[in-house]
Amino acid sequence: MNILICFGTRPEAIKMAPICHELTNKGMPYKLCVTGQHREMLDQVLDFFELTPDYDLDLMKPNQGLNELSARILKGVNGVLEKEKFDLVLVHGDTTTSTMTAIAAFHKGCKVGHVEAGLRTYNKQSPFPEELNRQLTGRIADYHFAPTQASKNNLIKEGVPEKSVIVTGNTVTDALNFAVAKVSHTYQNENIDRLKKLVDTNKRLILITGHRRESFGEGFKNFCKALLTIAKEPNVQLIYPVHLNPNVQEVVYKMLGDVSNINLITPQEYPSFVWLMSRASLIISDSGGIQEEAPTLNVPVLVTRDTTERQEGVDAGVSFLVGTDTTTIVTKTSEILKQLDRFKTMKNPYGDGTAAKQIVAHISEVIK
Ligand code: UD1
Ligand code: UDP
Repeated sequence: MNILICFGTRPEAIKMAPICHELTNKGMPYKLCVTGQHREMLDQVLDFFELTPDYDLDLMKPNQGLNELSARILKGVNGVLEKEKFDLVLVHGDTTTSTMTAIAAFHKGCKVGHVEAGLRTYNKQSPFPEELNRQLTGRIADYHFAPTQASKNNLIKEGVPEKSVIVTGNTVTDALNFAVAKVSHTYQNENIDRLKKLVDTNKRLILITGHRRESFGEGFKNFCKALLTIAKEPNVQLIYPVHLNPNVQEVVYKMLGDVSNINLITPQEYPSFVWLMSRASLIISDSGGIQEEAPTLNVPVLVTRDTTERQEGVDAGVSFLVGTDTTTIVTKTSEILKQLDRFKTMKNPYGDGTAAKQIVAHISEVIK
């Protein structure tokens, strides 16, 4: 069976790396195509997981529009599918890369496997455009690797045949375990050394990220205003690796660039970001992946979005949906800072670290 794995952004690379490793461990050859929807943020993940693409479409442009990017991915992936015949194309999640690749593969008669399938908000404006991307890929896919039972249930309700859905846990846990093990042994990392100097161990560390398109404008400004107030809490240090999207960079550096206990830093390589998460008292973020990683590290997360397709973390009491209202973010932060002890033993609802093994076993047994 000829397998193509295709991804393009930082989170997809982190979550597909364990599958690449497992295919290699099992002696199953595959080809890797990266669209380069992200560049620097993707390359650092490829380096850390020691992955070398067979095809690099190098498509990123500054502040790229969704339609233009979509068209370029469709055309670029088509070129790869015309060079080689693939039986199965594996895509991940909800990005422009994954949906456009799924469409290109379908047009070329390839089977499509969707990793991290079935997450839903059923609100096509939130997350935008990811909710609809994931639904579209779900319509196209032949094999659905759902991280949780709830995501499987969504697919079944939508009429996806039960035998094509397998619950595997999320590969994010596999990746996190790999990173924690690698970082805790002989791994030398200048970034972690720099962070050790930056982090004030006498203060409570609040780690921040933010990048969602639907929050650009007022929502993002309100979020920054909330951070200005939170920085006045006693004994806190805020560290914010700022996403490279110019819409984020401009507002964040303008509003938060000059506050002594808010440290704006460049997006971190995965190992140094994991190092930061594991030392944080609280994370404030609109990221999907971080909502899944935090429970493994016993860190509570305020989710600065109006909806989440990761309700499992909310139900487990580790994630809190706060939207982008300044007062709500500030109030919930003070509340959580007063009860940090209760998060020390959280159960991770997103998987046990064997998702990639289960996905690859399924591919080798069922998909001929
Ligand atoms: C995309 C995904 C989103 C994911 C996010 C992860 C879609 C529709 N959305 O967001 O689901 O959560 O990536 O970060 O696919 N940039 C760089 N260097 C990089 C990466 C980005 O400079 O390495 C800048 C570029 O100016 C780029 C911009 O950020 O144009 C936005 O990147 P893009 O992939 O379009 O981001 P989103 O669509 O917001
Ligand atoms: N991440 C990282 N460096 C950073 C911020 C995040 O490596 O500076 C990792 C994080 O651990 C998670 C993933 O990137 O695995 C999440 O990516 P992002 O928030 O960009 O996308 P999303 O998960 O929202 O799609």
